Amino acid sequence: MVNKAFEAAWQDACNDIGPRSRLTIPVVQSFLVVPITFQGPCNSPILHFQLLGTIVAPEDPNSWSDCESGAWLKFSDVNGLFIDGSGMIDGRGNAWWTKSSTYINEEYRCTVPPSALHFENCNGLHLRELKHRDSPRNHIGVSGCNDVIIAYLDIAAPASSPNTDGIDVARSTQVRIQESVIRTGDDCIAINSGSSQINITGVYCGPGHGISIGSLGMDGEYSTVEGVYVRKCNFSGTQNGARIKTWQGGSGYAKDIIFEDIYLHNVNNPILIDQYYCADNNNCPKESGAVNISNISYKLFQGTSSSRTAINFDCSNNVPCLGLSLDQINITSTVNGEDTIAYCNNAYGTSYITTPSASCLLH
Ligand SMILES: *[C@@H]1O[C@H](CO)[C@@H](O)[C@H](O)[C@H]1NC(C)=O
Ligand SMILES: *[C@@H]1O[C@H](CO)[C@@H](O)[C@H](O)[C@H]1NC(C)=O
Ligand SMILES: *[C@@H]1O[C@H](CO)[C@@H](O)[C@H](O)[C@H]1NC(C)=O
Ligand SMILES: *[C@@H]1O[C@H](CO)[C@@H](O)[C@H](O)[C@H]1NC(C)=O
Ligand SMILES: *[C@@H]1O[C@H](CO)[C@@H](O)[C@H](O)[C@H]1NC(C)=O
Repeated sequence: MVNKAFEAAWQDACNDIGPRSRLTIPVVQSFLVVPITFQGPCNSPILHFQLLGTIVAPEDPNSWSDCESGAWLKFSDVNGLFIDGSGMIDGRGNAWWTKSSTYINEEYRCTVPPSALHFENCNGLHLRELKHRDSPRNHIGVSGCNDVIIAYLDIAAPASSPNTDGIDVARSTQVRIQESVIRTGDDCIAINSGSSQINITGVYCGPGHGISIGSLGMDGEYSTVEGVYVRKCNFSGTQNGARIKTWQGGSGYAKDIIFEDIYLHNVNNPILIDQYYCADNNNCPKESGAVNISNISYKLFQGTSSSRTAINFDCSNNVPCLGLSLDQINITSTVNGEDTIAYCNNAYGTSYITTPSASCLLH
């Protein structure tokens, strides 16, 4: 275990008053690290964290000494952080994924699996090139961060691993996620409440649950997401493609969202708005409020659906979806000779050159 060495190196880099400080994790070996927080603010305007080797988490959840922060590797209040390198972050989440390993160590607050890597209040964050493997929970979390570029990542966990989202964004603005490959057991990317001006370009997703806005409005929450632009993404064998999910009883809005130039191969729900989201279908009660969904556009989709309902707009009875737009959509069935359909419930919008026909949209 090398936490002491990591902490010392971090302190040196963080205290460095030069214009650009640097911390390099060398390639020589793999480093077993227990939960650690890299705390800012730091002195230099740019802190370059270069990962060349492999960082691994303890394999047995019972030997995690602390889960208080909710994350294994956490960066907090560090502005101008550049993380890159050919290295790997291996969360060794396997034992966490099986409930039988009874979570676990109440003493150390390890009652739910932790995220592998989390950034909290890190403005001007750049994260590039790294490989991320087998997180106990989501691989990367970004919250309260503005001006973020995430690029050239390779994220992978088994299709069956629970809650292993690739990248989760919340309470952040001006975020770019680009040119990355994400194979996982849950959402490849999830955009959560408080997020705006998010661009996602050139992401390959599969296996996984697609690129999701939400879930929003859980437990009656006021949630907002606006200005999301998802473009040139490829979904292969995923549960969903472009998904927006909200709980009944929430409030707030999701608006001004574009999905464009999307390639689909064998996707179960290529286009989905679900305003009746209910995790694990746990008998969620009927509620009247809903997160208001408006101005959502889907443009240039090509590919195949493994379910018949390729387009599914299941909107709230009380707060309908407004301003949905479908433009040059061509989603055929994975199965030769089968057709696909669109389903709408309280969905207002327009469509242009769309297969399947979306004549169910209200005007
Ligand atoms: C997102 O893309 C749009 C259109 O290309 C661009 O105007 C905007 O500046 C981009 N925003 C970010 C955060 O990259
Ligand atoms: C999407 O990914 C699949 C599977 O790797 C590949 O065959 C296909 O060419 C890709 N499509 C595009 C448009 O990038
Ligand atoms: C719809 O969203 C787009 C993309 O964010 C934005 O440019 C446009 O102004 C919005 N339209 C309306 C009517 O709000
Ligand atoms: C939902 O938002 C749209 C766009 O801002 C607005 O026109 C509409 O009135 C809102 N619906 C409700 C029920 O508040
Ligand atoms: C729609 O996709 C199918 C299957 O990929 C293809 O055969 C067909 O030509 C496409 N139609 C249009 C209008 O692009």
